[in-house]
Amino acid sequence: MPLFLSWSIRLKWRSEFLLQELNVERILLGVNVDHVATIRQQRGTRYPDPVTAASIAELAGADQITIHLREDRRHILDRDVAIMKETVQTRLNLEMGATEEMAGIALKTLPDQVTLVPEKREERTTEGGLDVVGQMEAMKSYVGRLREAGLRVIMFVDPDEDQIQASRAVGAQGVEIHTGDYCDAKTEEERAQELNRIYDSSEIADAAELYVAAGHGLDYVNVEAVCSITPIVELNIGHSIIARALFVGMDQAVREMREILDGFARDNE
Ligand code: PXP
Repeated sequence: MPLFLSWSIRLKWRSEFLLQELNVERILLGVNVDHVATIRQQRGTRYPDPVTAASIAELAGADQITIHLREDRRHILDRDVAIMKETVQTRLNLEMGATEEMAGIALKTLPDQVTLVPEKREERTTEGGLDVVGQMEAMKSYVGRLREAGLRVIMFVDPDEDQIQASRAVGAQGVEIHTGDYCDAKTEEERAQELNRIYDSSEIADAAELYVAAGHGLDYVNVEAVCSITPIVELNIGHSIIARALFVGMDQAVREMREILDGFARDNE
């Protein structure tokens, strides 16, 4: 059975509506609602609530809600994680640094998916993938603890063969390939080069029987080329969707992205 189909059957869908969708072969859209929380935290208000944004995103066709609980709590708060664990109807993907504090939160909350990301306090957003190669033993034990609790663990890595093989070796079930360099490419040549790296590494990950996601920096234009890379079955997209939502509303912003992804149905034959 193709990896995508077998994985999709294993997804823990919670709503009846989505159960009926199990056989729909489409690229899964994870909507990252961090930046709704960024606006809230800018003023320390109660609004806008990322929990509400997550519900609207799901109604508009998101397959997953992605949130990054950062050490400095600059956007998503512990309360958001706890509430979304209860309210998210599709899947909750918790991005986090591989720290003791975050392990405690993940083991208590038990989200549907944990994505391990590197984290530096001074960065504006996640810069670069996780260095799995450089911390094999620590990662093996960290991933092992999460997996023992039944969590699905994905490593956010650069499009690099060594990092992908290392992710498999430490016991992760999948990788999310960092698309930031492709999105930031300044010339067509650079863009093509970066896209090739994403293509090659997604093939490598698929051959290693890893679940293949991708994300970071994707928008309504640059996403198309990534959609055409068939081993990629999940995209996590935040900033561009929330930015568009300011003008057209959350529902419309998610629907427009959904429509683009739906133009690239997966052939599981
Ligand atoms: N995937 C990962 C692992 C991320 O850290 C982020 C940013 O939080 C995203 C996807 C979404 O990136 P963007 O907001 O640029 O769409």
